Amino acid sequence: MTKEEFYSSFKVLTKAELHLHLEAVISKKTIRYFYERKHSGLSDVQADSEIAKIFTYSDLNGFIQAYLAVQDLYESPADFDYVFADLKDYLVRNGISYAEVFAAPSAFIKKGWNFSDMVETYSRNIRKINSDTGIKIRLLIDVSRTFGYENAEKNLQLLLLNMIPEIIGIGLGGSEQKGPAKLFEKVFDKARSQNLFTVAHAGEDVGPESIWDAIKICKAARIGHGISAIQDEKLMQTLVERKIPLEVCPTSNVFTKKYVKNLAEHPIRTFFNKGILVTLNSDDPLFFGVELLDEYWNAYTEIGFSVEELKQIAKNSFVASFLTNDEKSEFLRRFDD
Ligand code: HPA
Ligand code: ZN
Repeated sequence: MTKEEFYSSFKVLTKAELHLHLEAVISKKTIRYFYERKHSGLSDVQADSEIAKIFTYSDLNGFIQAYLAVQDLYESPADFDYVFADLKDYLVRNGISYAEVFAAPSAFIKKGWNFSDMVETYSRNIRKINSDTGIKIRLLIDVSRTFGYENAEKNLQLLLLNMIPEIIGIGLGGSEQKGPAKLFEKVFDKARSQNLFTVAHAGEDVGPESIWDAIKICKAARIGHGISAIQDEKLMQTLVERKIPLEVCPTSNVFTKKYVKNLAEHPIRTFFNKGILVTLNSDDPLFFGVELLDEYWNAYTEIGFSVEELKQIAKNSFVASFLTNDEKSEFLRRFDD
């Protein structure tokens, strides 16, 4: 299949994406606008070179610093209107009909923003996108490993005071090395007691023990990345038996360099062969220069999945989602059509 044929046929397949960060789906145009607004008087060349400096990192912690630098360019919750406009374009461009998107409020709350103002912009934009396009978006609040337990607990408290139907759970992103899962056990227990879903990034920058902690201590329903599971046969068996899905983001792993040298060696092939419920995701399109369709293309050309296998992986994203069973059946029916 040629590249053009592949992209056009996978674009029309209705897809879900389960691992996508809201603040990282902004377009180059929006980041340029945010940057020049904050640093006035720069020539185009200067702005280009300063922006390029932000996107220079060689590991997960460097990437997290870049992520925080981008969040620092936001001036007010109204900026999320730009971000959601970019998210809408992204979802349409990639043929995504359902997305569970992480929003990371910690840096904004630290700047003094009002969480309820942020939630208002999330809610208004998500409803508008749904009425304009039919695309359904749900949010997971990333309570973050980077800033410790108290910050995560505060995020959850604010969330519980500002619940909206568009927010369905919490996630644990940020620095896996600085913030081990055991620190967040109580936040996760409390979230579940309030009927929130719980997921965690794990095994992205730390070995299989971090994935064990995420599933045993935090009882995460899905694992973001999970690539270091390749080192632990028993863990892979457990993921299969307990049907714990992995949100795999191949290009992101190549950028953060910890366990994956290149796409051809990505462990997603082994995970799939063993029967783990794997999904394909882009993680941070602005930072890694890939969108969901590109990840399907990479999986086809670099990792060696067949078209039929990729269709199975695309279906997995609905199966692994937090949609109700009726909603899953409806999306899967549309997929088969
Ligand atoms: N890992 C950790 N934190 C993040 C990521 C990620 O892949 N993306 C955005 N924040
Ligand atoms: Zn992520």
